[in-house]
Amino acid sequence: MAKEKLIIFDTTMRDGEQSPGASMTKEDKLRIARQLERMRVDVIEAGFPAASEGDFDSVQAVARAIKESTICGLARANEKDVRRCGEAVKVAAQPRIHTFIATSPIHMEKKLRMEPSQVIDQAVRAIKWARDYTDNVEFSAEDAGRSDLDFLCRILEQVIKAGARTINVPDTVGYTLPDQYGLLIRSLRERVPNADKVIWSVHCHNDLGLAVANSLSAVQNGARQVECTINGLGERAGNAALEEIVMAVRTRQDVFTCDTNIDATQIVPASKLVSGITGYPVQPNKAIVGANAFAHESGIHQDGVLKHRETYEIMSAESVGWTTNRLTLGKLSGRNAFKTRLQEIGVELESEEALNAAFKRFKELADKKREIFDEDLHALISEENLEHIENERYNLVSLTAHSETGEQPYARIVISDNGKELPSKSEGSGPVDAAFKAIEALVTSKAELLLYSVNAITTGTDAQGEVTVRLSKDGRVVNGQGADTDIVVASAKAYINAVNKLCAKTERLNPQL
Ligand code: KIV
Ligand code: ZN
Repeated sequence: MAKEKLIIFDTTMRDGEQSPGASMTKEDKLRIARQLERMRVDVIEAGFPAASEGDFDSVQAVARAIKESTICGLARANEKDVRRCGEAVKVAAQPRIHTFIATSPIHMEKKLRMEPSQVIDQAVRAIKWARDYTDNVEFSAEDAGRSDLDFLCRILEQVIKAGARTINVPDTVGYTLPDQYGLLIRSLRERVPNADKVIWSVHCHNDLGLAVANSLSAVQNGARQVECTINGLGERAGNAALEEIVMAVRTRQDVFTCDTNIDATQIVPASKLVSGITGYPVQPNKAIVGANAFAHESGIHQDGVLKHRETYEIMSAESVGWTTNRLTLGKLSGRNAFKTRLQEIGVELESEEALNAAFKRFKELADKKREIFDEDLHALISEENLEHIENERYNLVSLTAHSETGEQPYARIVISDNGKELPSKSEGSGPVDAAFKAIEALVTSKAELLLYSVNAITTGTDAQGEVTVRLSKDGRVVNGQGADTDIVVASAKAYINAVNKLCAKTERLNPQL
């Protein structure tokens, strides 16, 4: 019997972007969107256009660039947000407006300060504004997991009548349990009179570690769209992880009556790209995309896998893209090969100058590192993009770091401040600490260091280290990144990048506040 389709709705660039410091530039979003399109994601939620001019531009750019996936923007249920969203997505080949309003007693009373009947009227109005732009309109009942079932039935019946085509039932605070959430979806499908006119969608947060289990339970109870993110990125504990949803449904086709259209071999490249861009590392034991997900440590397991792979493996590493980490370029590769490979991995540089600058960097890297992998190219392009961010004030000019057993480590650094070169020297507990202190002596950001992490981008001791530095100041959190074969240099670049972000005056609204 033919399987029904399970729609994969990726919200890495909207809900994922709500993770502290994970904000993405337009170029970042374009690269992620191209990778999602290559992976055959059905719907890409590209952002919240009313949040800022920058968000509007990014959503519009993604809407223009992507042809195969539906491009969606989020809007609160008010006229300004909905029209802003409509303007941003209307250039897409397949646009969607996703509007939402909270429906739980606590949200309606304490956050919205609205009566339930006013909430229904506002939701219906929002659907009608959205329909001025497209008939592909999705409605979300925020905090549905804690909403009253009778009220949910009332509001959803009305928004379907007003023209919503997809109804999303978010467990916004990650409170529900799998049986309960599955039953909620089943009850809504049975009780809302016009339920058969729409696709039922789920959107689960991971506060109790149940986002994937809840989403799958909903699918078994008739949901046919799952909202999820790469690596489970998202508000607080994150959203349901796309890779886990897709592979659970695919691996357990004996249980599920539906399947996705996803090209699973693109999962690992997507995971690495998102982790690199956002600065959120993937834990080694993370299902599907963690470095250890297919590593067999114990002798008994290794022996079993060698004799017959399926003794200990329920899916193959290749099927989710682990082998795409292949050698791509080397020192002798020319400009054309470089340009072609960039296009193949979804990077389109805007001008010849940008290509020349990136190629120069590539040659410098190839001098230090014999083999250049796709991950190296992504890191190189991320750096190139970072340096073109407007308002970038500080740049690393040179760095000397000294560490020797029994000696006090120190770092000497020169950075340029709007073009003016400034030297500084500092001691520290190690060369990275010394470099950060030397930078801080010049920039006096007085920010709090929340996170420092180093990841090897590829294998081998000549691998580039990718460093993430998370800084917080006056309630703002930013992630800075840097990559280099020398991890002290990568760390200094990451620190400077974070400070530059703190200097940039970007005001963004969070849709859910
Ligand atoms: O978690 C949530 O409720 C959301 C909605 C805006 C869909 O992200
Ligand atoms: Zn959410």
